[in-house]
Amino acid sequence: MIPTLQWTPEGVRFLDQTKLPLEETYVLATTYQQVADIITTMVVRGAPAIGVSAAMGLALGVKDSPTTTLPDLGADFDTMCTTLAATRPTAVNLFWAIERMRQRFSTLAARTGATTASIRTGLIAEAQRMYDEDIAACRRMGAHGAPLLPKSGGVLTHCNAGALATCGYGTALGVIRSAVEQGSTLHVYADETRPFLQGARLTAWELMHDHIPTTVICDNMAASLMRQGKINAVVVGADRIAANGDVANKIGTYNVAILAREHGIPFYVAAPWSTIDLKTSNGDAIPIEQRPALEVTHHAGKQLTPHGVGIENPAFDVTPAQYVTAIITERGVLRPPYSESLQELEAATAI
Ligand code: MRU
Repeated sequence: MIPTLQWTPEGVRFLDQTKLPLEETYVLATTYQQVADIITTMVVRGAPAIGVSAAMGLALGVKDSPTTTLPDLGADFDTMCTTLAATRPTAVNLFWAIERMRQRFSTLAARTGATTASIRTGLIAEAQRMYDEDIAACRRMGAHGAPLLPKSGGVLTHCNAGALATCGYGTALGVIRSAVEQGSTLHVYADETRPFLQGARLTAWELMHDHIPTTVICDNMAASLMRQGKINAVVVGADRIAANGDVANKIGTYNVAILAREHGIPFYVAAPWSTIDLKTSNGDAIPIEQRPALEVTHHAGKQLTPHGVGIENPAFDVTPAQYVTAIITERGVLRPPYSESLQELEAATAI
């Protein structure tokens, strides 16, 4: 399995996704501040992986905190949460993971005989539990989603919602993996995904690793391929799904959804329940991260655009729920109207 991130006795080890596909190198974070920096600079990226990385960052910070009393450890922990929450604003999994670690801290601290040592051990165990649960959720998503894909044909995906974006197996790519494991003969078209090139670099690398036939296309080629009948389904991941089913995902996802609708192609979104944000009523309320202009003006250190030209770099866009054929989660497949189906599945499967 692709080792996206890993808890080790020395710290948290990350596969450096900024170096892929040409170099397979690892970065060891030994402080929570380093984990925050690794998330911000996208050494690790993808909503579920960001969430579990933050949880491991908190576990690491608490493990190495020099404080010796519970109130001091609590104050230190608050600072760690604030630092990690300031890394990337769109993926709700980040805030979900921090909140879960906060709750665990409170529960552990309220136990009779609680010590700083028992909290440290308990938080490390919680972060590792979240890691294991993420992989299990991806596998269940794969099982739920695979029957939706055609038995053969082309499947388009945007960005990287694979093993590299999770603790393993992937969401959108997990659905594709599961379909292939069940005997489907799929050909994946990976949008290159300007400007960070997650499709060209990461999706292509990871699918080739698994010997799944893959073709990289520039983002502006999708319409033409759809018109030629080469794309039979689209499956993407999500960074946040609002209560009405609007989906925030990598910039350019909205374009793909409109094209799919125009060509009568189903558009599926695969995401774990930790990506669903029932407190946010619709996509307009989702914060969209603005990334540095340098990601657009330069590639591999080389300038592409004239000095001083205006640059926009929103990292995500919102696909209105009306374009989404189904949402695939580990709890099951949701169909429109999402404002009802999301609430119903939440109530039926609340844990
Ligand atoms: O900016 P990134 O690379 O973190 O964006 C990732 C995506 O948009 C993914 O599609 C999303 O996080 C889902 S990952 C399973």
